[in-house]
Amino acid sequence: MKLWSKGFEPDQLIERFTVGADRELDLRLARYDVQGSMAHIRMLESIGLLSKDELDQLLAGLQEIAAIIEEGNFRIDDGVEDVHSQVEFMLTAKLGDIGKKIHSGRSRNDQVLVDLKLFMRDELRRIASETERLFHKLLELSENHKDVLMPGYTHLQVAMPSSFGLWFGAYAESLADDMQLLVAAYNIANQNPLGSAAGYGSSFPLDREMTTRLLGFADLHYNVVAAQMSRGKTERAAAMAIAAIASTLGHLAMDVCMWMCQNFGFVSFPDELTTGSSIMPHKKNPDVFEIMRGKCNRLTAVPNEIALLTANLPLGYNRDLQLLKDIIFPATTELAECLDMATFMLGHMQVRRDIVSDPRYDYLFTVEEVNRLVLGGMPFREAYRKVGLEVQDGTYRPMREVHHTHAGSISNLCSDRIAAKFAALAQKLK
Ligand code: ARG
Repeated sequence: MKLWSKGFEPDQLIERFTVGADRELDLRLARYDVQGSMAHIRMLESIGLLSKDELDQLLAGLQEIAAIIEEGNFRIDDGVEDVHSQVEFMLTAKLGDIGKKIHSGRSRNDQVLVDLKLFMRDELRRIASETERLFHKLLELSENHKDVLMPGYTHLQVAMPSSFGLWFGAYAESLADDMQLLVAAYNIANQNPLGSAAGYGSSFPLDREMTTRLLGFADLHYNVVAAQMSRGKTERAAAMAIAAIASTLGHLAMDVCMWMCQNFGFVSFPDELTTGSSIMPHKKNPDVFEIMRGKCNRLTAVPNEIALLTANLPLGYNRDLQLLKDIIFPATTELAECLDMATFMLGHMQVRRDIVSDPRYDYLFTVEEVNRLVLGGMPFREAYRKVGLEVQDGTYRPMREVHHTHAGSISNLCSDRIAAKFAALAQKLK
């Protein structure tokens, strides 16, 4: 049975192909669909399209459906296209003709839009709070390890002293940049499209300000066509934020994989957090970070996937848009899981404290030596040459000391500033 049934049912083959994964995916929209419907009917009553009694009955019916959803017992029946149809059928089955009044002045096109906006808002908040947990773990580790030096590399060649304080703190601050995109995506999602109906508005005097208020949106998508255009754009903005965080996290995962390698040996994990080999008895592999790297790399492709899916679509609703759910729904979950796992693993990371005492890292300190000579009055280029010649003839001996005091350097991490920067952004998603 279809909402749009006009005396014939579509071929099963057509139905299966067009519904696709929607019956499964739409379950995540169910609670938002009910919220949207509640706001819509309150508004319909306020403009005289429902009586107070009808409104009360419909609200009670929707409350019951909401309870079924929260208990995890909501299903989309075979032969029902999507969550919007299922909710309306359930309501009509219970209330008869009153149930059929709920759809005045709206279309599934703005219904799915409003569901998605509400869903994306919550998902972006969930990602923000997972990102915040990871951020705090990183900053805590940065402070705890600010005196532990490690080699810094350029071209993957030993370069200058770095520290675990710098390394952890770098990923924390990088997440603050990603939060900027998350805030932008959230602001785009936080606008009410309801009332755009099929995409061109309605001849009913819909009170769109009222539904905006009832659903807690920051603003409306005023222009009804723009509201419809936001399908795809909302997901794309969210995907960009997701990709940004994933790229930071994937980079971190790569560092960990490399530094667990015996040739580096900078970090390790308790045995039970590593994985083994079926043939080599000694193996303790970093599979967690490899899977994380792979998943994060895959997530960086999500904005492209959305861009390609939506490229050059004609204005107005097109069914292609349904497929956005197949892309963005798993992506939000996957990122949240990766963030959670990263926070857990970093909490168990063991850091080697004496890395730079190994002679293979002697040359990390050549610039420190040059700078010492400069501070003693020697012109930089002369000092550079002097140390360079010592390296050349094998007489260079490092003093393993660093004096980096400027903002953001080894001995002045500015963690409080970074924390403040992040907190100001995180606040916008609370
Ligand atoms: N499942 C559909 C989607 O996600 C709902 C909207 C259907 N609208 C329509 N005109 N067929 O896009």
